[in-house]
Amino acid sequence: MRKKIVAGNWKMNKNYAEGIELAKEVSNLVGNKTFHCEIILGTPFIHLAEAVKVVNSQKISVAAQNCANKPSGAYTGEVSAEMIKSTGASHVIIGHSERRAYYAETYQTLKEKVDLALQNNLIPIFCIGEKLSERETSIHFDIVKAQIQESLFHLSEENFGRIVLAYEPVWAIGTGVTATPDQAQEMHFFIRNVISDKYGKGIADVTTILYGGSCNPSNAKELFSNPDVDGGLIGGASLKADDFLKIVDAF
Ligand code: 13P
Repeated sequence: MRKKIVAGNWKMNKNYAEGIELAKEVSNLVGNKTFHCEIILGTPFIHLAEAVKVVNSQKISVAAQNCANKPSGAYTGEVSAEMIKSTGASHVIIGHSERRAYYAETYQTLKEKVDLALQNNLIPIFCIGEKLSERETSIHFDIVKAQIQESLFHLSEENFGRIVLAYEPVWAIGTGVTATPDQAQEMHFFIRNVISDKYGKGIADVTTILYGGSCNPSNAKELFSNPDVDGGLIGGASLKADDFLKIVDAF
């Protein structure tokens, strides 16, 4: 059985006090309840160390939203995978479409980030997804396949097995437009086949593939009921503890 995950991506929201408050609220709502998925909070860097302390670590993990593509040194403003690991965070989101678009992240830099994350025992949540124009011209499958191939297919079987993927169609992010359950399933199934062709069915079957893009309490259940959708990467709806918990509870 592959892991089911609901992960929040707070993006660049919440000042220090607000973020720690949100982490506490989520942890309180989770309480001692048992959910059928892992819960991860993807916070800005400034919250990581304290968020790790205030949440119930048996129930909630903490993720960074990016890491540097260099191990250390004179890279002003960057935060390394090793630094992230030292906060107690366990995961790092890599390759989000906003970073690809606004910070010119390339296949190569993402490959370097994935390697550094793995070397530092962080689990990469690696994001892939096509733009609207790419779907409209029917090259969405090719785009997603290239994103996987170019940044991940250098990995050994063992290391690939440590990656979590998140399919986030760019046209669905923050737009209120969600991929239909059929569109999500179709792409997730395709992604699993791409993995299977390279690493074999065994690895493909245990790779967790999350869906992201306007996922909310009212559509989560239907999206997650697809056989190849193993959870969600949640933006806007992860900023409200109640909504986030409803999505977690959708499993
Ligand atoms: P929204 O849920 O706000 O559409 O964002 C999705 C996302 O980008 C998660 O990484």
